[in-house]
Formats: sequence, structure tokens, C-alpha cells
Amino acid sequence: MASSYSADIIPESIFCQQRRCLSLLELKLTLFAILFFMFSPAVVAYDPLDPSGNVTIKWDVMSWTPDGYVAAVTMNNFQLYRHIGAPGWTLGWQWAKKEVIWTMVGAQTTEQGDCSKFKGNTPHCCKRNPTVVDLLPGVPYNQQFANCCKGGVVSAWGQDPTASVSAFQVSVGLAGTSNKTVKLPKNFTLLGPGPGYTCGPAKVVPSTVYLTADRRRKTQALMTWNVTCTYSQFLASKNPSCCVSFSSFYNETITPCPSCACGCQNKKNNCIMSDSKAAHTKGINTPKKNNSPLLQCTHHMCPIRVHWHVKLNYRDYWRVKVAITNFNYRMNYTQWTLVAQHPNLNNVTQVFSFDYKPLVPYESINDTGMFYGMKFYNDLLMEAGPQGNVQSEVLLQKNKDTFTFKQGWAFPRKVYFNGDECMLPPPDTYPFLPNSANVNLVASLTLAASVLLVILCIH
Ligand SMILES: *[C@@H]1O[C@H](CO)[C@@H](O)[C@H](O)[C@H]1NC(C)=O
Ligand SMILES: *[C@@H]1O[C@H](CO)[C@@H](O)[C@H](O)[C@H]1NC(C)=O
Ligand SMILES: *[C@@H]1O[C@H](CO)[C@@H](O)[C@H](O)[C@H]1NC(C)=O
Ligand SMILES: *[C@@H]1O[C@H](CO)[C@@H](O)[C@H](O)[C@H]1NC(C)=O
Ligand SMILES: *[C@@H]1O[C@H](CO)[C@@H](O)[C@H](O)[C@H]1NC(C)=O
Ligand SMILES: *[C@@H]1O[C@H](CO)[C@@H](O)[C@H](O)[C@H]1NC(C)=O
Ligand SMILES: *[C@@H]1O[C@H](CO)[C@@H](O)[C@H](O)[C@H]1NC(C)=O
Repeated sequence: MASSYSADIIPESIFCQQRRCLSLLELKLTLFAILFFMFSPAVVAYDPLDPSGNVTIKWDVMSWTPDGYVAAVTMNNFQLYRHIGAPGWTLGWQWAKKEVIWTMVGAQTTEQGDCSKFKGNTPHCCKRNPTVVDLLPGVPYNQQFANCCKGGVVSAWGQDPTASVSAFQVSVGLAGTSNKTVKLPKNFTLLGPGPGYTCGPAKVVPSTVYLTADRRRKTQALMTWNVTCTYSQFLASKNPSCCVSFSSFYNETITPCPSCACGCQNKKNNCIMSDSKAAHTKGINTPKKNNSPLLQCTHHMCPIRVHWHVKLNYRDYWRVKVAITNFNYRMNYTQWTLVAQHPNLNNVTQVFSFDYKPLVPYESINDTGMFYGMKFYNDLLMEAGPQGNVQSEVLLQKNKDTFTFKQGWAFPRKVYFNGDECMLPPPDTYPFLPNSANVNLVASLTLAASVLLVILCIH
């Protein structure tokens, strides 16, 4: 498509800015860049590293009652590396008619609403748009339901599939009492725990089939409907939530995170210096109800920094050190995940002190992997402070045809923390090999500049 779009028929002036005009070569590069940009994750609710990742909410009608039905609601997190952390999920929907919730097991609505027209038996919730949250661990046995009561925390599918599910039971009244008269709830919303998810409409799907405990008999739901929710980082927040810094054994320059990578709006009144008295006062680590961060003051103002250090060069292998630092005084990251994309990840020989799993979303390309903490060792990334970091080393076998330290090749192409893409430093600042010709680095620089120019042109 890009090549058939011949550059010479485009009047040069279209691509002119005040400063300068783009050359033909740059123009071609730019067209490529536009195509690339159109598919970049920030623009659409689609993650190229996890194309089929979503959260599916399934309602299985287990029985019809005189005025409605009892349903088991199951939330499955099919995302490879994005979990739902504390304080957990919040699920909302809108009833199609005048339904009420008589009872709920394994979860609760946050508000009962106006049930004044009910005499005697009062429903659990009469709101037209109920908001449901999970129960906390340790509730009495008779309030529990299988896979409930985890404070709304749901693991990433790639990290712990057995814990990537959450469920509760709801008994609905004033509703349809058969698969012909029941009306599906609408307008599902999911917070996980913050914004970012968009849910599609409920759709009737083939009824779920259950195997009895002895595995000798199958039963099935009377009716099943599914809702699919997908994540978009763009909807979640306008700024990134993490940044990346680089260093190498072959150049003493440390390439820092870009300045204000995560936005500097809060710098004035919402960050504290690590060596200040405030950083050592009691209660500073108390999480706030709305999960608002309290950051250590840095030039990047990110809660998380990932550092990639090219540490050693052997004949057939090379070694990278990866460190994650937490700059948020009010947050412990449980079940954190780190995803990196690098062409040599197809040849990981050993990963020290983190668990590692290759992610192969497209069968032919094996350049992405997921790192996460080892259980009870470093799966908890502690609040900002002396303990607020985790680190690992990765040993990679060189692929003789492609391996090079030139042109920043040894650094990752993409980095995600907890499923959000981290901001990388600009390519011209990467530590480079002494005396190497920087031709391609300059090329990538102009490419980046062209992208910017063209975006300015378009808007
Ligand atoms: C419905 O959701 C369940 C998981 O909750 C999933 O296994 C199933 O494939 C979904 N069905 C359809 C048709 O999407
Ligand atoms: C509704 O139930 C009837 C039997 O009661 C069944 O034949 C039919 O397939 C069901 N329809 C749906 C959409 O589940
Ligand atoms: C529910 O969804 C419909 C259509 O998507 C929309 O028109 C309506 O405003 C939504 N209602 C609420 C309360 O969000
Ligand atoms: C983080 O975890 C530690 C140990 O479990 C705890 O003492 C501390 O209060 C927690 N900090 C936050 C911000 O929750
Ligand atoms: C991808 O690379 C890893 C090594 O990092 C290897 O263990 C795995 O088998 C590879 N997977 C595929 C599908 O090639
Ligand atoms: C890993 O590197 C070695 C040496 O270059 C090569 O023979 C092997 O095929 C590579 N493995 C993969 C999965 O690419
Ligand atoms: C190290 O890399 C920086 C770019 O980040 C470059 O300016 C500097 O010249 C390099 N140092 C050496 C000794 O080549």
C-alpha cells in the first residue's frame, strides 16, 4: 500500500512545514510510519502483543424462579499479562425492565437503592443500574460462592490461569421466567480497578455444560449469555504510567527516562523528595480510598521505572539486568507483570529470580516475553523506599546473524508494566557503541521527526 502511493505525484508543499521540507526518502519512511501509527495500541482498543486478550463475563441461568431466575455470573480474565489488582473490580449494568436483585452470594451491590414499595421481604438491591463488587476474603462460609471473595483481585491468564476467574451468584426478581421472556441486562461497565475497559452488549451463547464432581454426568445451564470487555490504555489515562531507562557496559552514559514521561501536572503539590522528613513520617504509606498515588519527586514523575542494563558480553551469550523501581509511596504492587519485546527473546537461556514465559501471539514471531515475580519471593513490589524494587538478570544466546550492540539493538522495542505500555527514551539518546558509525541512529531520528511533522500536518 505504501509503495503504490507514489511520492512524486504528491506536491512537495503539502509536506512542508515552516522549518523545512521532507525529502523523498523521508516521505516514504513517513508513509510507513503513518501506517504503523494507525495500528499502534494507543489509538485503538487492541493490544498487538495480546490480540485476543479480554475479560469475559458470563451469566449462566441455573434455575427459573416464580418471578425470575438465579444466575451464576463468572468473570474470566483472558488477558495474558494484565491482571485486576487491589482494590479489585467493579461491575455495573442496567436492567432492561424493572428487575430487582433478591439476593446475592459471593458479591454485593454497593447501594441498595429505593426498595420502599416492597413489603415484608426486602430485595438486596432495587437500583435500575446496580454496581457490584466482590466480597473480601474471610467472609462467613454461607456468603461464599466458588471463586468469590478475593477482594475483586483477578490474576492475568498468562500468570496464573487458576486465579484468573471471579464469580458470584445473583437471584433476580420481577424478570422474565423463561428463555423466551427474559431480557438481557444492558450497558455493562467494568472498572479494573480503574477505567480503561469497554464492554460490548450481552449475547446469548450456547449454554455452558458442567461436568459433575465424579465426572460421570453432564448438566447444563438453562440459558447463557456473555459480555466481552476489552482494555484500552488510551481510555485508562492520558499519560503513561511507567517509563524506561537504559545503560550498558560499553558506554558510561545512563539514558534516563524521558522528562515528564508520565505527566508533570501533579509535581507541585503531590510529590515528596525521598530525603525529606515527609518521606519518613508515619502513615505516609497508607493507601487512599481512590487509590491516588503519592510519588517520590523525579524528573519523569512515573510511579514505575523499568531499567534495562546491557551488562555483559560473552562469546555466544550476552546478559541483561532488568530492574523495576516503585516511586509510589502508597502502593504495593502485588502480582506485577513486565512484558518486553526484543528480537533476541526467542533465545532466552536463563532468567534469574523472575519467572518468565514467552508470549507468542503470532506463531511465526517469538520476540515477546512476560516476566513476573516468584511467589513469596518477589511477587510483591513494595512501596517506594529502600525495598521498593525488584530485579533480575537474563542470559540470552546470540543469534549470529542478527546480534549486534550497534544502533541500540540491545535495547527492548516495547516494555509494558502491569499491561500498560511504558514510555521509552528517544532513540537518539540510547547509549551507543564508541566509534560506531551512527548512520542508522540518525536515520531513526529523522524518522521520528517525520512522524511528528506529518502528524502536525494531518491535524
Ligand atoms: C463465553 O464466555 C466463556 C467464559 O466466560 C467462554 O469460555 C466462552 O467461550 C464464551 N462464549 C462465547 C460464544 O463467546
Ligand atoms: C429455550 O428453551 C427451549 C426449551 O425450553 C429450547 O428448546 C430452546 O432452544 C431454548 N432457547 C434458547 C435460546 O436457549
Ligand atoms: C445505555 O446504552 C444505550 C445504547 O448504548 C444508551 O443510549 C444509553 O444512554 C445508555 N444508558 C445509560 C444509563 O448509560
Ligand atoms: C506494603 O506491604 C507491607 C508488608 O506487607 C506493609 O507493611 C505496607 O503497609 C504495605 N504498604 C502499602 C502502601 O500498602
Ligand atoms: C520462544 O522462545 C523461547 C525461548 O525464549 C522458547 O523456549 C520457546 O520454545 C519459543 N517458542 C516458540 C513457539 O518458538
Ligand atoms: C538460538 O541461537 C542459536 C545460535 O544462534 C541458534 O542455533 C538457535 O536456532 C536459536 N534458537 C532459536 C529458537 O532461534
Ligand atoms: C555514549 O552514548 C552517548 C549517547 O547516549 C554518546 O553521546 C556518547 O558519545 C557515547 N560515548 C562514547 C564513549 O562513545
